Amino acid sequence: MSFDNDFTGQDTRYRMRIRKKKWAEPELAACKYYVNSPEQYKGRWKEFFGNDKPIELEIGCGKCTFIAEKALRSPDINFIAVDIKSDMLGVGRRNVERLFAENGRTPDNIALVRHNVEQLDAMIAPGDGIAVMYINFCNPWPRLKHNKRRLTYHKKLRMYRGFLADDAVIYFKTDDDGLFEDSLEYFREAGYTVRNLTRDLHNSGIEGNIVTEHEKMFSDEGVPIKYLEALPGK
Ligand SMILES: C[S@@+](CC[C@H](N)C(=O)[O-])C[C@H]1O[C@@H](n2cnc3c(N)ncnc32)[C@H](O)[C@@H]1O
Repeated sequence: MSFDNDFTGQDTRYRMRIRKKKWAEPELAACKYYVNSPEQYKGRWKEFFGNDKPIELEIGCGKCTFIAEKALRSPDINFIAVDIKSDMLGVGRRNVERLFAENGRTPDNIALVRHNVEQLDAMIAPGDGIAVMYINFCNPWPRLKHNKRRLTYHKKLRMYRGFLADDAVIYFKTDDDGLFEDSLEYFREAGYTVRNLTRDLHNSGIEGNIVTEHEKMFSDEGVPIKYLEALPGK
């Protein structure tokens, strides 16, 4: 991965690097719900979870604030949270453990996965039946030559379309105006229909929002959060 460490042209708040955490990889290796080789579960994620519950997916999950809360609130759904950085997932694992312990539960509906979203179709198949996917505050990559790295770039949306269920919904949030407006075009180009679009989520009346790490940072600064739902509608 060359571009993982190349933050050229990024908004400074997206340039923040996570410090190396020596404990992250050993703790992940000992974690029953951390998956280091997710390709082995392609088409078989129900076997990983050991049940038939629906599976939802978050890509670029960061420190797992969102997915931990989501999984706690929805014990009848399984969640796969993907990030490229093990240090990030290490912090995420601790956040999951803490939130579940505070609520007297053991995490049994989460898989933490280190994987590059560029190759998401190597670990998810249509048979996994993913009907909900979250993209929260992905890096905006504002320079034209870097746009293709965006997790909402039209080529990636086509790839997601290949494995998402027919009735799937992608939930997308960002602070970044350029990324949001361009993503509208990417979703259209890739054949998705957009609904429930708002350029100010927190004043939109949309209920049940779970605030992510980046969402808190930007909304504390007064930046309105942009949001949409996109349907592949195959
Ligand atoms: C700006 S952070 C957002 C974190 C979190 N979703 C939030 O809303 O606070 C973007 C995350 O995406 C991850 N990421 C970036 N490119 C990725 C890729 N190609 N594959 C997987 N994860 C990626 C980064 O490591 C980082 O944790």
